[in-house]
Amino acid sequence: MELRRLGRTDVLIPALGLGTWEMGGRDYPDFSRDVEVVEIVRYAIRRGVKLIDTAEMYGAGHCEELVGEAVKEFPREEVFIATKIWPYNLKFKDVFESLSRSLDRLGVDYIDLYQIHFPNPFIPLRETMKAMEKLVDEGKIRFIGVSNFSVKELEEAMNHLSRYDIVSNQVLYNPLDRLIEHEILPFCARNGITIIAYRPLGKGSLLKDPYRRILEGFGRKYGKTPAQILINWVIRHENIIALSKTMSKEHLDELLGGMGWRMEPEDYERLPELLSEAGGEQEKKS
Ligand SMILES: NC(=O)c1ccc[n+]([C@@H]2O[C@H](COP(=O)([O-])OP(=O)(O)OC[C@H]3O[C@@H](n4cnc5c(N)ncnc54)[C@H](OP(=O)(O)O)[C@@H]3O)[C@@H](O)[C@H]2O)c1
Repeated sequence: MELRRLGRTDVLIPALGLGTWEMGGRDYPDFSRDVEVVEIVRYAIRRGVKLIDTAEMYGAGHCEELVGEAVKEFPREEVFIATKIWPYNLKFKDVFESLSRSLDRLGVDYIDLYQIHFPNPFIPLRETMKAMEKLVDEGKIRFIGVSNFSVKELEEAMNHLSRYDIVSNQVLYNPLDRLIEHEILPFCARNGITIIAYRPLGKGSLLKDPYRRILEGFGRKYGKTPAQILINWVIRHENIIALSKTMSKEHLDELLGGMGWRMEPEDYERLPELLSEAGGEQEKKS
């Protein structure tokens, strides 16, 4: 298991975390696959994918309940639980209420990483960050993270913190979505903020034609599968971990094979170029 330091802390987290969007529902709870969800989360933890990322919004809380059910058979410290607070709940008082509901649903005494899901320009960030610091002081969360924050928003959030750091920013990143490389990635690297990259497989779309052919070419060179090439591309930087979601044990095993090796430096450059060329050609044809 390839490990990464979380922010500037001494805590090591796996370079691959398990995402849980659509597990237990989307905007509303969906109870139809509960058993499978609990099973895949437990399987991931047993395979060393100890970072589980959820959110109060996923399945309107049901996803947290399922993650809670899954983790209860492990010693608490063996699992790194990351969850997120929805942007409507960022007022000082609301932060404590949201956190307390998340703790209840997860059935734990503390959350490892509490992330602001999206910034909310209508609620002063100062209120939220002060509440976050108080939660760390109270031992209810270990680390403060954000998600979908620009550099400007990160700077503002950091300015409102006096005792703790922002350890992570969860953002979209894969070879065809490289917006973060302009500002966010260099800023986070300079400031010791871990990038938690969501949609490393483009929600599965990068594994389909025309991209699949290109990935298979790279796969032949390194003896890897397309999904492994994508995970490997995303985690090539020291301060990035990938967050992928799967309901399948076979897929999870496959994703694990994306870690622990490196491509030649020029292949990391060539891969996104070839993928976007293939995507462009496809568009011209259609
Ligand atoms: N902070 C935010 O705003 C935000 C936004 C989006 C996502 N996220 C988080 O990031 C996580 C990851 O995003 P994502 O779910 O879009 O990511 P993804 O890993 O790019 O895509 C997941 C999709 O790929 C498929 N898949 C996974 N492994 C595979 C494999 N080895 N072979 C073939 N297909 C495979 C999965 O289907 P199967 O289940 O069939 O394997 C699933 O449909 C989310 O679950 C969520 O926790 C956060």
